[in-house]
Amino acid sequence: MTIDHAFLQSLPKVELHLHIEGTLEPELMFELAQRNNVALPFDSVDQLRAAYQFNDLQSFLDLYYQGASVLLTEQDFYDLTWAYLERCQQDNVQHVEIFFDPQTHTDRGIAFATVINGIKRALHDAQQQWQISYGIILCFLRHLSEEQALATLAQAEPFKQHIIGIGLDSSEVGHPPQKFARAFAAAKQQGYRLVAHAGEEGPAEYIWEALQQLSVERIDHGVRCVDDEELVALLVNEQIPLTVCPTSNVRLKVFEQMSEHNLKQLLERGLKVTINSDDPAYFGGYMMENYRQVEAALGLSTAQWLQLSRNAIEASFASPERKAELLEQLPQR
Ligand code: ADE
Ligand code: ZN
Repeated sequence: MTIDHAFLQSLPKVELHLHIEGTLEPELMFELAQRNNVALPFDSVDQLRAAYQFNDLQSFLDLYYQGASVLLTEQDFYDLTWAYLERCQQDNVQHVEIFFDPQTHTDRGIAFATVINGIKRALHDAQQQWQISYGIILCFLRHLSEEQALATLAQAEPFKQHIIGIGLDSSEVGHPPQKFARAFAAAKQQGYRLVAHAGEEGPAEYIWEALQQLSVERIDHGVRCVDDEELVALLVNEQIPLTVCPTSNVRLKVFEQMSEHNLKQLLERGLKVTINSDDPAYFGGYMMENYRQVEAALGLSTAQWLQLSRNAIEASFASPERKAELLEQLPQR
């Protein structure tokens, strides 16, 4: 059976690797800049979008942090999150676990409460309106210090019931997971679920460290695991989920083009792979576009698409009841 748009659309989707700041579309960035009187170093939406040519992770992060400067009020964070959830509804995404980077905002003088309350209110409204279930994951910025991560964890304390997990993102190379061993141990003790970006640009060694020194349950990206056979064997045996982001990997030149992406190979080797959009406003694709591009370049079978969908449901931090509900919606083929 051929894989068509209708089949991909029908799959109940779960997004596990999505930076909410990475969903800020140029149009909304300009609207918020005007609303908040923030100057942007671009004259137009088109000029800004034309600047989205990245050589690597850092060249993207520089623009991504600059873009976030227009987010000031709780309503701004609400509008940002709501716009993303509208895309989820269009793409049949039914469960989301959203990353946010509080340090990007608190370092500019924005209150932690402003950020999380805006995000949370939009998620709540989308759950009411479209039954999209959700979790919120707080990410430490790895280019900052572990002391700053611990201070952020302390700031999160009053909002703990709204935060399901702790993650680690930003500039990977030179900032190995072990730098955050104490912060992750503290987070674990406080009952948070744990994830970390590793093996995106950084080496397979960082994936080992994330597992062994941070005790994470999922690896964000992880595509470089193939450089280490022993690591691949462990990831397969333990069925540790990898939240892979195909369009992101191509736009940040982790792979030169989609046809070179190792997602199909990872799947065929028995790794628990999932598909996610990472920073869709910057990389040109929400969930369906990632599915579409993967299918066009790699040509997966129906069984492989169902496996990817099942993987994402099982890898999520949703309740067992919610997971069962989502699994039931998988097409029977
Ligand atoms: N922050 C936002 N997107 C990221 C990515 N793909 N890798 C690391 N940090 C990020
Ligand atoms: Zn990411």
